[in-house]
Amino acid sequence: MIFDNTINTSTSIISYALCNMERKSVYPGSFDPITNGHVDIIERGLKIFDRIIVAVLENPKKQPLFSTKERVRMIKDIFSDQKRIEVQSFDGLLVDFVRENNATIVIRGLRAISDFEYEFQMTLMNRKLNPDIETLFMMPNISYSFLSSNLVKEVSMLGGCLTDLVPADVEKKLKKSIQRTHL
Ligand code: PNS
Repeated sequence: MIFDNTINTSTSIISYALCNMERKSVYPGSFDPITNGHVDIIERGLKIFDRIIVAVLENPKKQPLFSTKERVRMIKDIFSDQKRIEVQSFDGLLVDFVRENNATIVIRGLRAISDFEYEFQMTLMNRKLNPDIETLFMMPNISYSFLSSNLVKEVSMLGGCLTDLVPADVEKKLKKSIQRTHL
């Protein structure tokens, strides 16, 4: 009887701990700059997770249009009212960043079949590096399925309209930054 009670108490404590455990995930990317497609994925992720860490890649090999600091700032500003979003930059291996932040889930957006091969390779490499980390793929709204940071930069550079494709503040920053690079 005492044994039964001990088991029941332990089970209750474990269930309580599991119920109260924060469901946390990491959404990594270059975000040069963040687009409405990324915003859409983050908002979908918030329906599943209590907290999302948006992890902005600091890659010395790539020459981004926006500095790491600018990319982090833009995302923080977009989600300034959303306490469940944290924005950090990272360098080195993604799996190390995920582990250091006590998370086990990585979110990635899948727009089209063309994304699949790269994502497949990356997921399996990350799994080889750390089998405890899982990648969860989410599809953005169909209206963002053609959208990418690179296309957004090109359209902005050629004077095209980006309304509905990037947050208004990002559009302003894109225009400024492109003027800056043409000076
Ligand atoms: O927005 P992107 O450029 O498609 O994001 C790619 C990113 C940042 C997720 C990927 O390049 C990455 O995880 N880089 C960190 C380095 C790393 O862990 N490499 C091995 C995994 S394949």
